[in-house]
Amino acid sequence: MDRIFSGVQPTGNLHLGNYLGAIRNWARLQDDYDCIFCVVDMHAITVWQDPRELVRNTREVAAAMIAAGVDPKRNIIFNQSQVPAHAELAWIFNCVARMGWLNRMTQFKEKAGKHKENASVGLFAYPNLMAADILVYKATHVPVGEDQKQHLELTRDIAQKFNNDFGVDLFPVVEPLIFGAATRVMSLKDGSKKMSKSDPSEMSRITMTDDADAIAKKIRKARTDPEPLPETPAGFESRPEAANLIGIYAALTDQTVEDVCAEYGGAQFSTFKQALADLAVAKLGPVGAEMQRLMDDAAYVDGILRDGAARARAIAAPILAEVKRTVGFLEP
Ligand code: TRP
Repeated sequence: MDRIFSGVQPTGNLHLGNYLGAIRNWARLQDDYDCIFCVVDMHAITVWQDPRELVRNTREVAAAMIAAGVDPKRNIIFNQSQVPAHAELAWIFNCVARMGWLNRMTQFKEKAGKHKENASVGLFAYPNLMAADILVYKATHVPVGEDQKQHLELTRDIAQKFNNDFGVDLFPVVEPLIFGAATRVMSLKDGSKKMSKSDPSEMSRITMTDDADAIAKKIRKARTDPEPLPETPAGFESRPEAANLIGIYAALTDQTVEDVCAEYGGAQFSTFKQALADLAVAKLGPVGAEMQRLMDDAAYVDGILRDGAARARAIAAPILAEVKRTVGFLEP
């Protein structure tokens, strides 16, 4: 079976965009791939994290994965810092990747902003750690969104340069896995902005642990325009809020946007919002409740992460040993 690796940052406030765009899709990969899902706490600290929140957010992501249907027995779920092989391989990759390659990374430019001099060295080297995450397991496929494609390209460049420099065929060429219907969920208050954990308005996002009342209220109050819903997606032109709500409905029912337009075209938003609220409560309510139950049982979640980390270490160990031999590190 091909091996998948994917990572998610423990940044807290997981929302509908994280669920429909990533977490839910992972549960759908487990039948066809050998999957390793990692909560990347080491990536998180490339920018400041409050230590207590970092622990809580790490458990939150793990709970979200399990609640969304990722089976922790059949797959590996763990947090990055429990497997030192990631950091060890990342150091070697720091010596393979070129400054010029990393200087081109758009995510660094965005995150560092105007004050590049004040960014952590870790933020600059972030993509090398990401390459190590993937390659320390010789993973062949990585589910990623648009924003991570450049980092995946860099992973391929690092693997190729390593293989070339040492005259080996050690690392595979990683392929991105793009989900057919990956949903880009936008803010409920502004259809042109991505739904975000850092939006000051709580009403802009549905979080994964919102209860039925909160979900229904946020959908009822979502921004709309006065026109009835369009009969085809062509009618979304300059109507980002209509596109967003219909997109969410389609994702939650596993229908195409065309189908939903065909069903609700001509309807008023009030009618559609009621249907969407009922649907969202039915689909997300149980996931959120299970997630909350798991978060209240920290010992259980910690046990899953510990077990996952032990299994991850066992896969990484012989691969890292092979890398060290190749580089010329004297073995104990
Ligand atoms: N950089 C990814 C993000 O911010 C998270 C990540 C870290 C990742 N390591 C990874 C994703 C390895 C895929 C594979 O979304």
